[in-house]
Amino acid sequence: MTQRTLVILKPDAVRRGLVGNILARYEAKGLAIAALEHRTIDGEMADRHYAEHVERDFYPPLRTFVTSGPLVVAVLEGDEAIEVVRGLNGATDGRKAAPGTIRGDLSMSNRENLVHGSDSPESAEREIGIWFPNL
Ligand SMILES: Nc1ncnc2c1ncn2[C@@H]1O[C@H](COP(=O)(O)OP(=O)(O)OP(=O)(O)O)[C@@H](O)[C@H]1O
Ligand SMILES: [Mg+2]
Repeated sequence: MTQRTLVILKPDAVRRGLVGNILARYEAKGLAIAALEHRTIDGEMADRHYAEHVERDFYPPLRTFVTSGPLVVAVLEGDEAIEVVRGLNGATDGRKAAPGTIRGDLSMSNRENLVHGSDSPESAEREIGIWFPNL
């Protein structure tokens, strides 16, 4: 089934010059870019995006991190796009993520793990609505 999913190339991806590398992986896999924007967000936007995590102990440093500089946010489209993107992204902790995945190849961190991908159709719809209300 064709799906849309929200992807964020977090500030570490921009700072490290990995935007092209990461987007190329999604494109080469066969996903289409339905929206793409370079943006810097404030804490309020971070709280909206990470609504399910705001009470977690790891959230305050995550909030600081995602607001620390520009990021690139995209909507990717394709067959089973949500699961496909999660597979390409790899496990949350870059040290444990499998080689071949974005995090497994390029991250050594649990927080600065380069990418976000929606985790369900409900999350994708909610997140696309927050980031791209006109899409
Ligand atoms: N234990 C932790 N310590 C530090 N940061 C964490 C931790 N767990 C999660 N994070 C940060 O919070 C983000 C959201 O956590 P979540 O559990 O949703 O992971 P995920 O679904 O793999 O990643 P994402 O939602 O960004 O795609 C992670 O991507 C990471 O940046
Ligand atoms: Mg998540």
